[in-house]
Parts: sequence; C-alpha cells; structure tokens
Amino acid sequence: MSANRKGIFIAFEGIDGSGKSTQIRLLADYLRKMEVAFYTTMEPTDSPIGSMIHQIMTGRMHADPKVIAALFTADRLDHLLNEVNGIARRIDEGTTVIMDRYYLSSYAYQSVDLPLEWLIHANEPAKEIMRPDVNIFIDIEPELAMERISGNRFQKELFEEQSRLERVRRNYLDVFDRLQGEEQVVVIDGNRSQEAVAEDIRSTVMKYL
Ligand code: ADP
Ligand code: TYD
Repeated sequence: MSANRKGIFIAFEGIDGSGKSTQIRLLADYLRKMEVAFYTTMEPTDSPIGSMIHQIMTGRMHADPKVIAALFTADRLDHLLNEVNGIARRIDEGTTVIMDRYYLSSYAYQSVDLPLEWLIHANEPAKEIMRPDVNIFIDIEPELAMERISGNRFQKELFEEQSRLERVRRNYLDVFDRLQGEEQVVVIDGNRSQEAVAEDIRSTVMKYL
C-alpha cells in the first residue's frame, strides 16, 4: 500500500456465533505477516454509550427499541468521530480498519422491532462519514451457530435464541437484496472449518489492499 493512500475499511457481519471474532483474529495474523498497518475494533464499543448498550443487553437496564437503535447509532458516530481514537481519522491517515459489526448489524438486528427505512435513515450520518470498502458477511446456519455458542443454557432459552438468529439472518439477506449496488457485500460460507473460511476471507481482502 502506498504511504499516502487512505486505509481500507472492512466491516465483518454475521449472526452471533458466526465466527467473526475468530476470523478477525486470523485475518489480523495474516495482515501482520504482510506488514499492513491495521487496527481492529468492534461495535458496540466500550465507550460510555457502548456501556449503556451492554447494560440493556444484559437486562440491567430497560429501554424502548427506538432508544436502543438510537444508542447503537450514537455509539457508532462516537466510534467514528471521537477525538482520542476515532476511526475516521485513522483511515484517513492510512490505517486499514477492521470492524466487528457496523451499520448493517443495526439494519439486521433492530429491524426485528423497527422499520428498515427508519434504521437506514438513522444511520445516514455514519454512512456519509465512512462507508465500508467491503462488508464481509459470514453466513452460517443458525442451528450450527447455536451449537457453537450454546454452552449449557436452558432448552427454552436456546429455542428462542435460535428463532431470533433465524430472523436476523433472514433480515441480513433481505437487506442485501434491498441494498444491491449501494453496499459492497461479500458473502462467505461460514459452515466450514476455520481455515477454509479464513482462506476465502484473505483472498477477498487482498483484492482491496
Ligand atoms: P462471533 O464473534 O461471530 O460471535 P466467534 O468467533 O466467537 O463468533 O465463534 C463462536 C464460537 O465458535 C467460538 O467458540 C469459536 O471458537 C467457534 N468457531 C468459530 N469458527 C469456527 C469454525 N469454523 N468451526 C468450528 N468452530 C468455530
Ligand atoms: P457481542 O457480545 O459483541 O456479540 P457478537 O460476538 O456476536 O458480535 O454483542 C453484540 C450484540 O449486539 C449482537 O447480538 C448484535 C447486537 N447489535 C445490534 O443489535 N445492533 C447493532 O447495531 C450492533 C453493532 C450490534
């Protein structure tokens, strides 16, 4: 990569347990070997706004779905713009940024409760600041994702969780249809070994570097 080029911006997407963190770690190992300057980060963040989201997700705080969607949006804008470690500036300075979730997560998850148009509108400011060069969607059968993450939770809870993940996966696929031509999305089959998935991701990323 030439010294004065902007970094590339890669967003990983997928249902919970699809393997995003694992694949981001493997991609980081590879980029390190290739001597690419990169930075990995995730949403929700660990900022004060992100902490509110974590409190809601763990049931310690209750909020209306519209408030939750607005918090994800605010957390995202702060992630882009905050003066200490905002990623917009890092990308402008030439660092490649790899993000675990971005606004397509809001489209897929929050559209369980809210209209997609509302969410697209709410995320317009973030999109104007930074649109991913590529969104890598790790597609996995919800049942397999559940097997990977279930641990020893109760049967009923698992059943509810699997139908939620099925809904979110469908939402992602509907969103990709709706946004054809607007968002760069690469779908990777996540129902395979870590190494097979990682190889596809590496060859995708190499096209953008
Ligand atoms: P996410 O970040 O998308 O929630 P993780 O990377 O944390 O997903 O993966 C969820 C679980 O599945 C972890 O225990 C991880 O070790 C395991 N895992 C990830 N990828 C694979 C794979 N390709 N095959 C089998 N297990 C996997
Ligand atoms: P996390 O524990 O990071 O899960 P994962 O490892 O699967 O990414 O929690 C993130 C959760 O927040 C996940 O269930 C998806 C959800 N989420 C939204 O609902 N909307 C959003 O905009 C984002 C970024 C995440």
